[in-house]
Amino acid sequence: MKTENLKKEALEKLEQSKDLNDLENIEKEYLGKKGKLRELSSKMKDLTGEERKELGAQINEALNFLEEKIELEKKAFKLEELKEKEEMESLDITFPGVKAFQRGHIHPLSIVKKEIEDIFTFLGFSIIQGPEIEDEWHNFDALNFPKDHPAREMQDTFFIKQKNREELDSREKYVLRTHTSNIQTRYMESHVPPFRIVAPGRVFRYEATDASHESCFYQIEGLLVDEHISVANLKAVLERFLQEFFRNLDVKIRLRPSYFPFVEPGFEVDMSCVVCNGKGCSICQGGGWIEILGAGMVHPNVFKNCGLDPQNLTGFAFGISIDRLAMMKYKIDHIKWFHSGDLRFLKQF
Ligand code: DAH
Repeated sequence: MKTENLKKEALEKLEQSKDLNDLENIEKEYLGKKGKLRELSSKMKDLTGEERKELGAQINEALNFLEEKIELEKKAFKLEELKEKEEMESLDITFPGVKAFQRGHIHPLSIVKKEIEDIFTFLGFSIIQGPEIEDEWHNFDALNFPKDHPAREMQDTFFIKQKNREELDSREKYVLRTHTSNIQTRYMESHVPPFRIVAPGRVFRYEATDASHESCFYQIEGLLVDEHISVANLKAVLERFLQEFFRNLDVKIRLRPSYFPFVEPGFEVDMSCVVCNGKGCSICQGGGWIEILGAGMVHPNVFKNCGLDPQNLTGFAFGISIDRLAMMKYKIDHIKWFHSGDLRFLKQF
């Protein structure tokens, strides 16, 4: 009778089992080597032959019965588990997506930079790169900036903190480049003329920001060196460039004499403001003209500093603000938009 009770007990537990773990515990409790049913058989030695036979048969029957039951339950649980897993992992590729793909946009400064590069490539210039962290030699000295001359301060330089800075050679003192003109000196040091290059890049100035000034902006530097190069060549190249860029033969430019230590003569080139058509707005600060680039004929000292012989060489250089050209082209009224990360602005391009 004991066997029957154990069987009943096990069946009740089986009914209440919730998972495979429960089943394994039941299996251990009743069918295991030290389980309750096996324990019963250890009592057989006290019985007579007939009783022993009967009990043995009962135990065997109970063992087989429970084993089968547990096996069936196990299968059911495993099936359930599999189903759950399948539901979690199933992927219906015909199901419509939740969100449409977001399309990216090319930043207006990148668009303009590429366009400028394309025009100069068409005019026979190669595109060159240079470092943003530059030594004072390439950013100032080699470009004929006199030592301690206010021109260095004029550029509102970000100086890199260095130990005993005053005692270092200008080739060991670092700044964030204030202009892309550093690429001129780097290039001339390591190449033999003639050459025609343009070099786009980021530049840094410690200055107050307004509608047309940022402490970080983009320039593109140009340099053409050969024999018998004149201001007429400079003018022709710049004019052609602006006409191509604005796809407009009516864009006016004016050359104003100006001072940059690395050119002689030096010019500031203005173009008529295409945001207000010369009437005056916040971009041109009411004047109708926008200063977009500096230019000039390469100073003989710069050739000398870069190891070139100024005797037979002539050349011109120019530096253009890419940000300003982009503002003119797309009629953007504040330079801050370029670095705002504002998607409402960027999605328009
Ligand atoms: N480097 C000057 C600046 O950032 C711009 C410039 C002026 C570049 C005259 C030139 C140049 O190459 O000839 O203000």
